[in-house]
Amino acid sequence: MAKHAPDLALLAAPLDPASETPLYRQLYDALRHAILVGRFAPGSRLPATRALAAELGISRNTVAQAFDQLFAEGYLEGRVGSGTYVSRALPDELLQADAAPTEIVPRHEPSDDGPRALSKRGRETWGLQMYAPHDLLRGIRPFVTGVPALDAFPMETWTRLAARCWRGLPSADLGYGDPAGYGPLRKAIAARLRDARAVRCEPEQVIIVGGTQQAIDIIAHTLINPGDTVCIEDPCYLGASAGLTKAGARLAPIAVDNEGLRVADARALPVQPRLVFVAPSYQYPTGVTMSLARRLALLDWARRSGVWVIEDDYDCEFRYTGRPLASLQSLDTDRRVIYVGTFSKSLLPALRLGFLVAPADLVDAFVAARAVSDRHLNTLEQAVLADFISEGHFDQHLRRMRTLYAERQAALIEAAEHLWSGLIDIQPGHAGLHVVGRLEPGIDGKRIARQADAAGVTSVPLSAFAVRPLRRDGLALGYAAYTPRELRKAAARLAPILEQAHLATE
Ligand SMILES: Cc1ncc(COP(=O)(O)O)c(C=O)c1O
Repeated sequence: MAKHAPDLALLAAPLDPASETPLYRQLYDALRHAILVGRFAPGSRLPATRALAAELGISRNTVAQAFDQLFAEGYLEGRVGSGTYVSRALPDELLQADAAPTEIVPRHEPSDDGPRALSKRGRETWGLQMYAPHDLLRGIRPFVTGVPALDAFPMETWTRLAARCWRGLPSADLGYGDPAGYGPLRKAIAARLRDARAVRCEPEQVIIVGGTQQAIDIIAHTLINPGDTVCIEDPCYLGASAGLTKAGARLAPIAVDNEGLRVADARALPVQPRLVFVAPSYQYPTGVTMSLARRLALLDWARRSGVWVIEDDYDCEFRYTGRPLASLQSLDTDRRVIYVGTFSKSLLPALRLGFLVAPADLVDAFVAARAVSDRHLNTLEQAVLADFISEGHFDQHLRRMRTLYAERQAALIEAAEHLWSGLIDIQPGHAGLHVVGRLEPGIDGKRIARQADAAGVTSVPLSAFAVRPLRRDGLALGYAAYTPRELRKAAARLAPILEQAHLATE
């Protein structure tokens, strides 16, 4: 027999006509919740739509829409003319699974006890704070670094190739693939690297990864024991220092001067490092290119002491003046260098595509580590990229982007000369996607960054990446993703902040 109609006061939340959520959806949510937590018992009869609408002060149509949805999902049942009932056939597990009212779980900081007992490793990784949701929320705005011109991506070509791949890829390629990566892409990358960066490699040494970040993870997992010393550049790209720390490395920060990593300082360490991480083409964030002498000194030290070297060549495609130095890997005679590249700057960060070139004897160990973590990347996307490179679109895109970025950089430098003259020492960048402006000694880049943020501008302080205090702080200013107009506008907003900081030091 049907039970009594449930008391409508048991509907948890009053309906809010001002909410962005449509009224029918609010009513649906409230009824569903009341059913799941047992306030409306199975078999109880609901009021007729007309009566409920009158009771709640909403239209009958709205009630009918909510009921329809609940009928469709099996929460309600009924017969024409005999009323609407809470379904008697709700499975017990369903009732229990969603029985707790929705609770808002507060965000925890890694230093809190946290919501659950994390492992020691989990807690340590959490503490690395590599992922910053608030930065993502701010979006891409001047002068966020490391972002290419997203609007200049050749979307039409890419989607045409993608459609062709989806239609034409043989079914054998649609199953599980080689964890080392899609064969034609490994081949295309090896050929390009030999030509453009003098990298010595066969396609079998190229492993396709989800960007530099995964390359670091695989390398660190495979070559570092917890407690091993690893040299990083100081200041250093946070993705690298975080990835290496996650594997248990003890980081030894080595200063970067205008020739790059001070190899003699690394050599003088009291402990023997296991690995050294460098970005010799365009060091992040300082923008320094490692001199040939330093490269040779680094390789000599690595060879004599058995240190592994990660070469992060993330920005190598963009060089505006002078001849690019060939890769560090091309000078390595002892197979100590693991070369890492990414398509995050040359194409799009969202693609999550990159590669590492491993010394031949490490390939299998790296591939095993990657297979265990995620098997392999999306084959379709790899196939599109393989065609994109081998059909010449990649080189064409790079040529266009070099011109565009040179123009954007020139616009920023011009705005800086006009608006920031005497406030920051900004030098044109010969490569990469950002320039560095050095602040007067005593000016705190982090403070400027906070004030700039409040004014709607991002300025990345070098000190945020430094382990030891810098003699002179500076700002890394990305320009590639912004039009000259956007750059000028942001430069004008930053000007009074720089001026104020400058006045305070006088
Ligand atoms: C020094 C450095 N290496 C690599 C990357 C690219 O990382 P991923 O390939 O994981 O996107 C960045 C991006 O900002 C970077 O600054």
